[in-house]
Amino acid sequence: MTTRYFTTPLYYVNAQPHLGHAFTTILGDVIKRHYRQRGDQVTLLTGTDEHGEKIAAMAASQGKTPQQLADEVSAQFKSTWEQMNLDFDIFYRTTSAAHVKSVQQALQIMKDRGEIVFREYEGNYCVGCERFLTDSELSAEGHCPDHKKPPEKRKEANYFFLMSKYRDRLVAHFEQNPDSIRPENYRNEILSFLKQPLADLCISRPKERLTWGIPLPFDDRFVTYVWVDALTNYLAATGWPSSSWAGGAGENLWSSARHLIAKDILKTHAVYWTAMLMAWGVKPFFQLNVHGYWLIGGTKMSKSLGNVIRPVEVEATYGRETLRYYLLREMSFGMDSTFTLESYVNSINAHLANGIGNLASRVLTLCQKNFQGSFSIDSLTDMDRALLEKRAQTLSAWNQSFEDLKFQNALKAWSDLVTAVDLYVNDNKPWALAKDSAQSERLQVVLGVCCMLLGALAAIVYPVLPEASIKLAQSLGLGLFDLKKSFPGLQLVTEVRTQWKLSPEVPKLFARVALPTPQAE
Ligand code: MSP
Repeated sequence: MTTRYFTTPLYYVNAQPHLGHAFTTILGDVIKRHYRQRGDQVTLLTGTDEHGEKIAAMAASQGKTPQQLADEVSAQFKSTWEQMNLDFDIFYRTTSAAHVKSVQQALQIMKDRGEIVFREYEGNYCVGCERFLTDSELSAEGHCPDHKKPPEKRKEANYFFLMSKYRDRLVAHFEQNPDSIRPENYRNEILSFLKQPLADLCISRPKERLTWGIPLPFDDRFVTYVWVDALTNYLAATGWPSSSWAGGAGENLWSSARHLIAKDILKTHAVYWTAMLMAWGVKPFFQLNVHGYWLIGGTKMSKSLGNVIRPVEVEATYGRETLRYYLLREMSFGMDSTFTLESYVNSINAHLANGIGNLASRVLTLCQKNFQGSFSIDSLTDMDRALLEKRAQTLSAWNQSFEDLKFQNALKAWSDLVTAVDLYVNDNKPWALAKDSAQSERLQVVLGVCCMLLGALAAIVYPVLPEASIKLAQSLGLGLFDLKKSFPGLQLVTEVRTQWKLSPEVPKLFARVALPTPQAE
């Protein structure tokens, strides 16, 4: 059984969950459901990053302790993902006692291996990024390109991880493992970044400036730099560095690690994280999958820019699972994409309400009206068989698209199959067959073929539309499914089912939606 370990970033608790966070977490859930359906053993980790200056500053501005803020916002992330049915296995918090212990052990290992030194440093520090920026990273006017603010000049005595010496090993690793960072352009970006000398990494913050962090195990006048703290989670969650980790289930899980991130944190993952792993003598992560930004009106959605969309609110208005479909259908993985209500509403109406929703209701209503949901089929025509064969073709296109991170193509292949079934219905005119009792057998065949196609459409799309898929499969009488444990199986994509006994009610899968009418001034 293939083991796959997917991770989302641990989100900062200075902002409430928005569409950008939701996208990566939805992606983790969709990919997890997909590979589980194919029989793999999949673990999905998500969680919150709770230490550091940003969190301390936000808590102070709200008159809370950092721990209070962290508890509140971490709970909001968790309940948002639960409300959206995102099936994570591990919700990781960096303030947990277990994490604090792992980070301290991890730092001690680095120190013992001679990877950490104490020295003075002056540089440009961006509080938003929580790191020193190199001159070449600043914009023409000397600002942080992400936070659009000038960095602060800071001088400090601190502990440094001797990261610079890993440059050649990092280059060799990413050159020898072409799939280690995907899509390719991000691997190229890292390889080109690594052409310049690599600086050592400051891994501590003096307590007189920041107390909200994990104390260094070898000098408690300092706390741990938040990126070193947070990145360690991915490995610590597999049980490292306990003595039973190497050679056991923990190392096996780690060796299948596939991180999901957006491009904002490419460098910290590809460079800092890989170098840290090398310093511990642990194999680098298997894969880093990097997506682009969701933009609103041309700029990145982010709390600091105040242009956020709240996923739960949006789905409450426009329908469950509609956001999952839209986000995966709209974004070309790796590139930026613009969220607009117009395109969201169009996508819901065109593909979900008028597409699968309308098809299912047309077919199932005819089945109930003519046969009270019970009928059987005998001989198939070439036209019927040609349509049935499209099921397996669609599944193989779908599977390949998942391998290639081309979720858009997967959904395109799926909605092409919906269209093919619509055409089959229009060509075979079951409503006309129903008027002629001599055509009852043919009517049963046509409806049976449509039901087989609906079953296959439900099974294929399950990872993206789990609730709708299960609802549809249940109304087809294909079994009782559980959203997390059992789901419409992929055998529905190949089987020829001759006896049908549908549930009596015809489901309404997706409603048509409209844009809000502009308010009068
Ligand atoms: N805490 C760090 C990550 C530490 S991981 C060990 C952090 N947190 S964050 O809250 O800023 O989350 C960044 C991530 O949220 C992005 O990499 C991406 O997964 C998601 N997104 C946040 N805004 C986004 C968009 N506007 N568009 C797409 N994804 C976005 O960085």
